[in-house]
This record gives sequence, C-alpha cells and structure tokens, in this order.
Amino acid sequence: MPAAPPLIDAFGRVVSSLRLSVTDRCDMRCVYCIGGGTRFVPRAGILTLEELERLVRVFMGFGVRRVRITGGEPLLRRGVMRLFRAVSRHLVAGLLDELTLTTNGSQLARYAAELAECGVRRVNVSLDSLDPDRYGAITRGGSLAAVLNGIDAAQNAGLAVKINTVALKGLNETDIAGLLRFAHGRGMALTVIEVMPMGDIDVDRAAQFVPMAAIRERLCREFTLEPVAETSGGPARWVRVTETGGKLGFISPISARFCAGCDRVRVTCSGLLHPCLGRDFAVDLRAPLRQFPGDDAPTSAAIRRAVLLKPHGHAFSADALNRIQVTRPMNVTGG
Ligand code: 5AD
Ligand code: SF4
Repeated sequence: MPAAPPLIDAFGRVVSSLRLSVTDRCDMRCVYCIGGGTRFVPRAGILTLEELERLVRVFMGFGVRRVRITGGEPLLRRGVMRLFRAVSRHLVAGLLDELTLTTNGSQLARYAAELAECGVRRVNVSLDSLDPDRYGAITRGGSLAAVLNGIDAAQNAGLAVKINTVALKGLNETDIAGLLRFAHGRGMALTVIEVMPMGDIDVDRAAQFVPMAAIRERLCREFTLEPVAETSGGPARWVRVTETGGKLGFISPISARFCAGCDRVRVTCSGLLHPCLGRDFAVDLRAPLRQFPGDDAPTSAAIRRAVLLKPHGHAFSADALNRIQVTRPMNVTGG
C-alpha cells in the first residue's frame, strides 16, 4: 500500500515508473553517447547498493510499481545482482509489478539466468547493427558476438527481449531491415529510436540524425506496416509487420512529441533525480539520503518537489541539433 499520495506533476501526469541508473560506466563508447571528454562520477559520489535499494523503497512508498535498472552498462556495476535480489523481494511480496533492465548485452550471457531468478521478465538490449564491423565502429569496440550470445542466453532463460536500435544517418540506416528480420524471426520486438542531442560529446548531431519518417519510408519498401492500438504506455508508436508478424516501435523524440503521456522519472547513479530526460534540471537525493540515514521523509520531500517541477516536455529541437540542448550524455541517465 502506498504510504503517501501518488506522485502527480503540475500537468496531472502520474509518475508510475522509476528508471534507476546504477553506474555511468560502460564497456562501449557508442558514437552518439560517450565522447572522448566524458568524465565519470568519482566512486565516493556513487550511491551504494543499499542506497539504491532504499530509493526504490521510497519510490514504492509513492505507489511507483515499475522499476527499470539502467546505466551506463548496469551489469558492470559490482554486486548489481545483490540489488536485483533485494528488489525482487518486493516483486514477490506483490509490492512491485515489474523489474526490468536496459543493457548493451555485453554481460548478459553471464547474468541472464540469475536475472530471471530475480523475477526479471523483460530486458531491452541495445543493438544498432548486425554487421560486426559496423557494430564495432558504432560502439567503438563492442563485440557483436558477445551481445548475440547474451541475447541467446536471455531468451533461453525465458526473458522477453526487446531490441533497441538508434537510427544513425549513413551508419546503420540500411541495417534496420535486417535487424527487424532478426528480431522478429526470434520473437523479439524491435524499437527504432531517433538520436537525441544529449551531451556535449563533440559530434555533428545534425549529420547523425535521420528522422523516423525516413526510416519508416525505407521499411515500407520491403514490409507492410499495420498500425496497432497503443499498448505499452511508453513513447513508442507501434505497428505490426505483416510479413513477420512481429512488433515494431518508432520512438521519435525529435520529430514527434510524446511528453504528454510521460509516466517516468530517472535517478542517476549519483542520486540526481531528473524528472525529464530531455532537460538538464535535477534535484539531488543523495544529500537527504546520506544526511538522514534513518529517516526517508527528507528524501521523499525532495522527490515530491522534483516531480512538481517536471517540465511539460523536453527541450530538443529539430532545427538546432548542434546546439547543446542537454549537457548530460545518455550514459548518465540511461534508457
Ligand atoms: N539518442 C538516442 N538514444 C541514445 N542512446 C544512447 N544515447 C542516445 C542518444 N543520444 C540509447 C542507447 C540505448 C538506450 C539506453 O539509449 O543506444 O539503446
Ligand atoms: Fe554504453 Fe549504452 Fe552509451 Fe553505448 S549507448 S556507450 S552501450 S551506455
């Protein structure tokens, strides 16, 4: 039972989902995510596993029933399975509906079975190409083989896998049809995402950006896309692909606004609560967590304050992709 009234923002949106980043580190350096100058949070600034679990409980007190663990690459966080175990108790107790994971898949082969044991039912795996060379180039050194093994392991463990692909002009536009066949051939949904101008990472965002309409048009040459009723509640617009029978989602943060239905907030591994992915504004939860180890009220108050300041929508603009619109890169808050 929620101990406090639900988290409702100034626009009447109810926060029902927490995205919790457990590390900003990653074993990949995707060209649209981490730049050479990216600085990582020093160890002392990172929330302990106990603090992360405590935050989950504080959010549960507000009636939040869905938690997604993210990063950086969350499976690189030392002891991360202790967090999954701890949170899984709330699933068993019926106090949480869902515990999910967003991962680049590099460590998934090792952890898939244990994740399933902890009650994780669904994982999102980032995969931008099935060509090993292009995959290596986009991730700057990621191993496609390891990720494919990870996907195998996840499916073998009974986890539902969704593939997330960031569309990159001239880099993987021609790979998306193949990714779709691969995903749907194995019973996995695919979502394609417009690249967002997150982080001052010294890339030409305008050159990377390809609008979702162009991706859709390219896919329409090969596939029949039938609209389906919205089901996930998230930002994706879903279609069913007639030829494969599988589901395809389009996430268009730049070309289509979906903020009116936003139901989530994000907490970084250093305890910054970002009510909006596409804005820099954040409220610090680490200070109240650490100053009041036995009292969650100050942390709860900070959360409520942050939610009341949740902006109506993100600040991304298609006309100014090379203006720094959000200074923090994606590895800070994750997907
Ligand atoms: N724009 C869009 N998606 C991004 N991701 C990382 N950086 C960006 C960006 N700038 C994606 C990853 C992963 C998910 C967590 O977010 O590829 O699928
Ligand atoms: Fe790592 Fe994900 Fe960022 Fe790629 S997008 S560098 S896998 S955090």
